[in-house]
Amino acid sequence: LPSLPFDHDPLAWLDETAARAGSVRWIGPGRLCVYDADIARSLLVNDEGRVADHSDFFGDGPTALAPRDRQVALAREALALVQNRLRSIDCAAEAARLEARSEWPAEGSALLLRIMRPLLAAPGRSPQFQAALDHVVASRILSRHQAPKGAVRRAYDRFRFFRAFSREAGLGREEGDLLGALLRHAGHLEEEALVQLYAGFVFATVGSVGFALGWSLLLAAEHGRILYPRPSHLVSEALRLFPVAWLFERSTARPDEIGGERVARNDALVISPYAIHRHPAYWEEPLAYRPERWQGRTGRTPWLPFGAGAHSCVAAGLTLELVGNLLAAISARGPVVERLGGGPSLGAALAPPRFALHLAR
Ligand code: HEM
Repeated sequence: LPSLPFDHDPLAWLDETAARAGSVRWIGPGRLCVYDADIARSLLVNDEGRVADHSDFFGDGPTALAPRDRQVALAREALALVQNRLRSIDCAAEAARLEARSEWPAEGSALLLRIMRPLLAAPGRSPQFQAALDHVVASRILSRHQAPKGAVRRAYDRFRFFRAFSREAGLGREEGDLLGALLRHAGHLEEEALVQLYAGFVFATVGSVGFALGWSLLLAAEHGRILYPRPSHLVSEALRLFPVAWLFERSTARPDEIGGERVARNDALVISPYAIHRHPAYWEEPLAYRPERWQGRTGRTPWLPFGAGAHSCVAAGLTLELVGNLLAAISARGPVVERLGGGPSLGAALAPPRFALHLAR
């Protein structure tokens, strides 16, 4: 196989791949990138058992939450908690708390932490646990555009959070928050696995949602669509061009042929919503920002920012609604954005580039 520069600049590689208008392309030995929407959807839905059952959220292997029923029960309870929390959110009041100048995407995640805190760590949790939550968000999410920390510092941060988590779990307090839900559904797991699961919820609620808000705001303001009548279309279009969950991983369950390529058992399938969302077969002027394209669009679109099938995101609908409402509330304050240099930040999630948000009122 030719050696391909995927790891050097993944977004450029995916852009170039999408422009070729094919369906699959090797990233490297045993790693096939899928960017055909129908193939991707059918692999994620997995009716024919062509891939091993897997969720990027819950992970797999000996430390993962099993059986699947427990994952589903935890996901449902998490969703109910988010739903309940969002009922009491006043988006205009949240937007009013933003300073005249703020720096994004960090500010978006800080805003989401304010909103999500009671469901991540109920007010009855210890001050130490609240501080540990602040610290993990600051060191893992708000710092996305800072120089990476050294290994020692990272290990210390992990240890600190682990200790606070362990202490809080040991207190045995019954609270109606995600930590409580986690202990009820997954309390039998090793602490390492519990911390991973908890961190997954923190990254989803604060990181991913904050980044989705950041992208939506940046693109809408730059393209003069801030007072657009359908904010949800601004969010859909932002997540089309910059899907925060930009890659999903699956592995083949048996030797197979996918998109005309022969794959062996356990080959990695890298499903790329980023490339699918920029594929000229599905989208007119795929690289253009055009929220209008969502007008009257119905049916199954090649749009997969929340995955597909049994493992697709439980909070997709709520996330779209929340981000749309926050965007509308911020829009009412006359936002102007100014890029601060640098590009998007690529990790497990695709974070927007740094920008300043100026609010007039
Ligand atoms: C912009 C925000 C979000 C994005 C882009 C996103 C994206 C995704 C994606 C792509 C998956 C499927 C992963 C796969 O198939 O391997 C997923 C699953 C999941 N998401 Fe989200 N998510 C977001 C917000 C949230 C929030 C706020 C929650 C909080 C409850 C959440 C909870 C979950 C859960 C529990 C799953 C696992 C579903 C399963 O395997 O049964 N997500 N998410």
